[in-house]
Amino acid sequence: MSRNARYELIAAHYARNIQDGLLYAGERLPSLRTLCRRESVSLMTALAAYRRLEQLGLVEAQERSGYRVRDQAAAQVLRSPMRRPRLAQPSRKREVLADQMLAAVADPSLVPLGMGVPSRTLFPLQELRRVSTKLLRTKPELWASYSPPPGDRALRRLIALRLRDRGLQVGVDEVLLTAGAMEALSLALRVLVRPGDAVAVECPTFFGILDAARGVGARVIELPTDAKSGLDPAHLDAACRQHSIRAVVLVPSFGNPSGGLMPDERKQRWATLLHKQGVGVIEDDLYGELAHDGRAVAPLVSFSREGSGEPPALLVGSFSKTLLPGGRVGYVVARGSWAEKLKRLKQSTSLANVTLPEQVVATFLSSGTYQRQLRKMRSAFADGVATLRGEIAEHFPSGTKVSHPRGGFLLWVELPPGCDGVSLFHAAIARGISIAPGSLFTLGPGFERFIRLNAGAAVERKDSIATLGKLARRQQASGNA
Ligand SMILES: Cc1ncc(COP(=O)(O)O)c(C=O)c1O
Repeated sequence: MSRNARYELIAAHYARNIQDGLLYAGERLPSLRTLCRRESVSLMTALAAYRRLEQLGLVEAQERSGYRVRDQAAAQVLRSPMRRPRLAQPSRKREVLADQMLAAVADPSLVPLGMGVPSRTLFPLQELRRVSTKLLRTKPELWASYSPPPGDRALRRLIALRLRDRGLQVGVDEVLLTAGAMEALSLALRVLVRPGDAVAVECPTFFGILDAARGVGARVIELPTDAKSGLDPAHLDAACRQHSIRAVVLVPSFGNPSGGLMPDERKQRWATLLHKQGVGVIEDDLYGELAHDGRAVAPLVSFSREGSGEPPALLVGSFSKTLLPGGRVGYVVARGSWAEKLKRLKQSTSLANVTLPEQVVATFLSSGTYQRQLRKMRSAFADGVATLRGEIAEHFPSGTKVSHPRGGFLLWVELPPGCDGVSLFHAAIARGISIAPGSLFTLGPGFERFIRLNAGAAVERKDSIATLGKLARRQQASGNA
């Protein structure tokens, strides 16, 4: 059962109809009075639902004629410069850039637009302190004990319940707690892949996925993904004709960096194809609970047709983007013997997890505080994305294209010809701003004109978008590529 506020559910219903093309640009929504009657809600709730849609940039209020669907067609479409699958060759240049980027995101003096973590101000720091202190007061022995794999049972049960709410039937013993999603990804790749195996990834994708795949000695096949609907399974089908692919790693819900949301029909096609080709899947679901309209997004693996003895469908998640990045609480979900293999691997890697953060997360989840926190995050991200898109439109050179994610807080930006993401990254650091250059999100070429920006850092942003825009215009004018 959903735990969202009533107005959010009403807004989510209309948002879906608009995004699925059932309501057209310019079409009028029911009047507030009609909405109250139809949904049996108060005027306040009806108004809150329409304000939410307004905040999401989907409708606009018009004097005396109520709310209308906004003209979405005007948005510039962002397309991948890649067309076909390719075997990627890592370069030394990219490694150096990755080191420079990590140094920049760790520098507290820089405006953190390159970070993949929301602003500190959005995390419930006081509540985290209160819960941690209380736990340590009542159970000081937490510091004297390990949390051996698969990890705290109460937390695993709560995670399984949340995933069941989203359509993934999970048992408590199918959840293994890890040190963040990064460890979960790495363990998942290690149980599935042997050195020299081919692993398919989206392009662009989160650089941690590229590093983890390379870490197990995999050959990495990059498949062009789509900033609106995620990766098309036809690309994997094509890649399977040339390579014997062992596994694919996907971020189908508000992927990093491009932010697309794969429609359920496409997820269904993925499940059929994976079964047909005998390819395992690792779904990175880090942003799956962060739909701006509060909708419950079904994970791709919930459509899986995994049978016993077949390559598995694994799901990876964490609480790093929503509650406590510093707690390093993540998880990987697997069935039957795969759950057992993962547990053993975790045991041989780090023996156990830290007890306190697991119990802090369990306390938040069981008290309902986490649900409130998610609502706050979603609303701040919807605002941040809308504001940042507006600022980019105002300050960046014409011809700039920006993703329009319906969840999460990352914006993927394509600069016009003449600009270069890596040069902009260096010029921005000199002005006290960190950004993430697009070249980091692939092992190959093609994304030199892209950058990723953090719309969850609204508080720290100040005039930095105007500064970045000025730098990009200067690049464009001097034809610096
Ligand atoms: C798609 C994706 N997966 C995994 C991670 C790593 O998450 P964690 O901090 O929980 O290890 C990130 C962090 O940016 C991410 O964006």
